Amino acid sequence: MSSSVPPNPILSTTPSSPLCPPAAPFLISEVPPSHLISSASTSSKPSTHVVSKSKPSSTDEEEIIKVEKTRVELETFTQCSSSLLWKLMMSFYDRKGVSSWSQGIVPHFITCNAFIGRAYAKVLAGFIEDLYDAKLTNERLTNSMKLNPEQPLYIIELGTGAGKFSFFMLKALNEMRETVRFPVEKIVYVMTDFTESNFNFWMTHPMLAPYVESGQLDFAIFDAVNDTKIDLHFAKKSISRENPTGNPICVVANYLFDTLCHDIFQVKEGDLKEGLISVGSSRKEEPDPLDPEIIKNFNNLYKYENIETNYYSDGEDADDGIHLERILAWYKDYFGNNDPSEIGASVLFPIGALRALKHLSAMSTGRAFVISGDKGNNNVDQFRGLMDPHIAVHGSFSLMVNYHAIGAYFTSRGGFALHNPQEEASLKVSCFVLPGVNNVGDEEGVAPFMGEGMERLDTERSRKFPRLRQAFNDYAESFGPNDFFIMQKSVKEDAPNPTLKSVVALLKLGDWDPDVFYKFRDTILNQVGTASSKLRNDLCRGIPRIWENYYQLDKEKDVAFEIGRFFYGIRDFAKALRYYTISSETIGEHHVTFHNMGLCFYSLHMPQDAAEHFQKSINLNANYAKAQSWLQKVQKELGTEKPKETDAEKVKGEKSDAGGETNSANNNNPDKELKVEEITEQVGEATVTSEDNTQAS
Ligand SMILES: C[S@@+](CC[C@H](N)C(=O)[O-])C[C@H]1O[C@@H](n2cnc3c(N)ncnc32)[C@H](O)[C@@H]1O
Repeated sequence: MSSSVPPNPILSTTPSSPLCPPAAPFLISEVPPSHLISSASTSSKPSTHVVSKSKPSSTDEEEIIKVEKTRVELETFTQCSSSLLWKLMMSFYDRKGVSSWSQGIVPHFITCNAFIGRAYAKVLAGFIEDLYDAKLTNERLTNSMKLNPEQPLYIIELGTGAGKFSFFMLKALNEMRETVRFPVEKIVYVMTDFTESNFNFWMTHPMLAPYVESGQLDFAIFDAVNDTKIDLHFAKKSISRENPTGNPICVVANYLFDTLCHDIFQVKEGDLKEGLISVGSSRKEEPDPLDPEIIKNFNNLYKYENIETNYYSDGEDADDGIHLERILAWYKDYFGNNDPSEIGASVLFPIGALRALKHLSAMSTGRAFVISGDKGNNNVDQFRGLMDPHIAVHGSFSLMVNYHAIGAYFTSRGGFALHNPQEEASLKVSCFVLPGVNNVGDEEGVAPFMGEGMERLDTERSRKFPRLRQAFNDYAESFGPNDFFIMQKSVKEDAPNPTLKSVVALLKLGDWDPDVFYKFRDTILNQVGTASSKLRNDLCRGIPRIWENYYQLDKEKDVAFEIGRFFYGIRDFAKALRYYTISSETIGEHHVTFHNMGLCFYSLHMPQDAAEHFQKSINLNANYAKAQSWLQKVQKELGTEKPKETDAEKVKGEKSDAGGETNSANNNNPDKELKVEEITEQVGEATVTSEDNTQAS
């Protein structure tokens, strides 16, 4: 471990993640000493209170800032994991549904693209390969993890959201069917989320339907923290402790653990302390305590009280008591005895994630493979310093995931963790394995885990899974999802005029991801006309894959339309027509799409069809001059030119047209025609679109 003292990333000073905007100005309270906090009440009336601001040092030099501030207390000081925070979180996702993603309220590009889907599939394939290897020397481990090709191999995705990642991973697994030893048709990917609104969206998505049909995809409503049984919607059966899976359960969780309940701890001068939170709002009144708008107005207070390491020995976590105690004892020991600057440490504890993983491994007789990406930390030296947790607000809110604690939980239970040590990363990917046998018995207590014991056990155990380690290194560590995210963002933002060659390289790296294509569509369309035939051929080979990879979430990004323009640009008018037609069918009819189709028909020497489509364009937008002049030109050539309208007729026409609304998705977008001017000659007209709203982009 490094001996330097980097800033504590759970604090408001490190907004490096896309989920982690700068600290909201209302979070003015940083470690308020409890004697300065107004006495907690349960009333929801505004109160005036005094808060203090303390520096993250052990000097006790507290700069007291008196702030008169209105605050509605929504809940008195409470253990963080049982506080109102998490009910508000669930209320947010429940009430917003899929609009969280389609309207870009929740950042998602970084976890929902073709690159990450393929990367996770490769890591899982590495794990599967290891399970076929007789060299897994430990007899008990070999038997407990042995794969049975007659039984389904379940991949349970938790907190799935809109389902875009699921689509990419399942597709990648299917494309690996020749090289993965386990029969891919026996893989059952289960998309789960606690909210019905997401479930209902999956039920209607055309890209998921073929997988449902083949039996490779199932859906379930599943609250990851509280439920102990997964009811498979299509298979009409349940997975539970009583009805466990035949093969080890595989779990995927992206941007979920930061969303599940956490507890707060500090180690100060050798003492372990629990952080209690009082949830409040800066608004004058809060009649609805589950109104997601409260999140934007959080005004929370914290206080800290001494506790023992057996904190979780009672209640719902009692059966994991020894494991949780080992982890807390490890932090107390590490930061209590290894704190030369006496600055203490602040530790977020992902108790919700640990409960979820306890329930899921119980459904598979204690075996599990888990891969998870989130904003978080696995380097404990990042926890140094005493400060309140930073709650990042981005529509909903999130906390930094302590992947170190999740790894420690697996190690304590006889498994191991693989972490990517990279520190500057918005998305940290970690992988965990539980083999179903506990190498260190509960009776051995805390001692074997103290100090470097935990890391040593981890390393020893992971050596038995060389292919998993190799795949994790190749697809998560050497160049992983975060690196891909940074690279595409950098090519977009740091290079004013990227070359087509570099964009093609990026598209290949990202497995022809539609969002990346959409982001670079102008570069592609502007340069393809003058590109070498080799480069053009490379693009032509890849572009159909963009469409295969397209998982529609919203109508803002008309990918089919842009592909149509691409083919128009390279004079492949038949293909252009195909994609313009798809655009009309999927996104909706648009006057520019019909106009571009008219141009295609004209170029294909089909003037009658061309005229029809120019006319359709005018029907949708009577003021669209380009379609009008093209229609006149084509009619002239066909000899079907209409007599000129009188001025009076013209006025009448304009009036009625102005009243006739179209059902086009983007018909009123004023940017459309502007973009068109630049590229119309080369690639047909541009329609669409509001600015790229891909979050984390
Ligand atoms: C930030 S989103 C991440 C969605 C998706 N995994 C992604 O990467 O875009 C968090 C998801 O977790 C779900 N969620 C929140 N609390 C949950 C719980 N207790 N159990 C299951 N899902 C939950 C929300 O409905 C939402 O879909």
